[in-house]
Amino acid sequence: MAGGAFASQGPVKNYGGNVTSFVLISCIVAATGGLIFGYDLGISGGVTAMDPFLTKFFPSVYHKVHNASAHETAYCKFDSQLLTLFTSSLYLAALVASFLASSVTRLFGRKMSMSIGGIIFLMGSILNGIANNVAVLLIGRLLLGAGVGFANQSVPLYLSEMAPAHLRGALSIGFQMAITIGILAANLVNYGTNQIKEGYGWRISLALAGVPALIMTLGALMLPDTPNSLFERGEKDNAMKILKKIRGSENVDEEYQDLVEASEAAAKVQHPWKNVLQRKYRPQLVMGILIPMFQQLTGINVIMFYAPVLFKTIGFGDGASLMAAVITGSVNVAATVVSILSVDRFGRRALFLEGGIQMVICEFVVGIIIALQFGTTGAGSFSKGYADLVLILICIYVAAFAWSWGPLGWLVPSEIYPLEIRSAGQAINVAVNMFFTFVIGQVFLTMLCHMKFGLFFFFGSWGVLMTIFIYFFLPETRNVPIEEISGAFKKHWFWGRYIPDDAVIGHQHHNQSA
Ligand code: BGC
Repeated sequence: MAGGAFASQGPVKNYGGNVTSFVLISCIVAATGGLIFGYDLGISGGVTAMDPFLTKFFPSVYHKVHNASAHETAYCKFDSQLLTLFTSSLYLAALVASFLASSVTRLFGRKMSMSIGGIIFLMGSILNGIANNVAVLLIGRLLLGAGVGFANQSVPLYLSEMAPAHLRGALSIGFQMAITIGILAANLVNYGTNQIKEGYGWRISLALAGVPALIMTLGALMLPDTPNSLFERGEKDNAMKILKKIRGSENVDEEYQDLVEASEAAAKVQHPWKNVLQRKYRPQLVMGILIPMFQQLTGINVIMFYAPVLFKTIGFGDGASLMAAVITGSVNVAATVVSILSVDRFGRRALFLEGGIQMVICEFVVGIIIALQFGTTGAGSFSKGYADLVLILICIYVAAFAWSWGPLGWLVPSEIYPLEIRSAGQAINVAVNMFFTFVIGQVFLTMLCHMKFGLFFFFGSWGVLMTIFIYFFLPETRNVPIEEISGAFKKHWFWGRYIPDDAVIGHQHHNQSA
């Protein structure tokens, strides 16, 4: 998610620095940041589908799921606010923590935030692993969320400042890739730990989140802070020393000079929050709110959080449900690779539009199948053939998301903000995304209970709306350097009226990277 904090720079300078071991280690640390987030996204749904976990913490849900005579329809089996809070509380904590982290990152450095994130995260995974009541379980989830907030705010920033400029764009989608690998790892771990007969498998699932957290904490403690952050905090000599060290070269004067200018320009931006509200940034503001909101309203996290529960609802057994989650998790990783390969070739619009249409079709067809099998009473049952068909359709849906709204939902808002509003813009992206992730996590099972198969039409209708929005309102941003973004909006049939002529600097020359 925090891939959003990378701004694609368009054509960038190549200062010719080497890819040193510092850069490599920072990539590994950044990857663990993505893994942690993905692991958390993926782990809770599987654990929720394990009987020993339900009997221990949510006995009433267990009772509903297993008691054939209960007056519950299939749609309402898992409806419990406390159960959903186990999943969604993390995102609320992350939302709050990311604002706190942005001050820590600025005042005390990126390294400090990453270390804090790692340590809080470790504590959360330990509490989750040893929990014996719901309160400890939820406190653990909240700590994990705070860790995610710190890590997602600081890791991408750290990485974008450590990496040579020409690697920054690629790293943005690389972070999304790490998230999807984290989700898949969680699905696989759940599948494995569910086989443990003694019933403590869920503890292993939850505690294993501590492994990437430990790697991140140790990595953050070992690595130096970024030259940009050192400079910002007045350690100018040190900034130069570190820059030479991480580039593996004495010849860093040009990059250092640019870093000084960028830091000074950024320091002059007094009121990023007020700037963002100016009329000429209206397109950015609208995109920065709607794109992350739409990304969540695709309904993807219904699958990422609750796939095992959903598959159980339509009649898969425990093991088969967890296997189905492994399958959707694998499709998610594979299709993200497709995105990496095609985003600069076909452009953002083409992927958004194709992916959107593919998702809408799957959502409506799944809705129709469930309506035919369960009706409004939720009393029917699925034949194996239909259950498999639903699984295939969900895979096609996940693939569509993973090459469109998944990575682009972060990349596009991040590449449209000019420097003077970038920090505020990024905060808006992350906050809106976390907020809607929380909402979907919290209300999905209740919505399923009340809207029944209509839920799939609900998300499908949002899909129609967002695809129309992209078609009419998003200009193509592929290969548009960040300084020329205003020009792209100026030419747009709708946004043009918001951009005054003097805001466009299309005639400037830019250094092309080699
Ligand atoms: C979204 C997450 C989602 C993930 C799935 C990300 O881009 O922000 O909410 O779970 O993709 O791969």
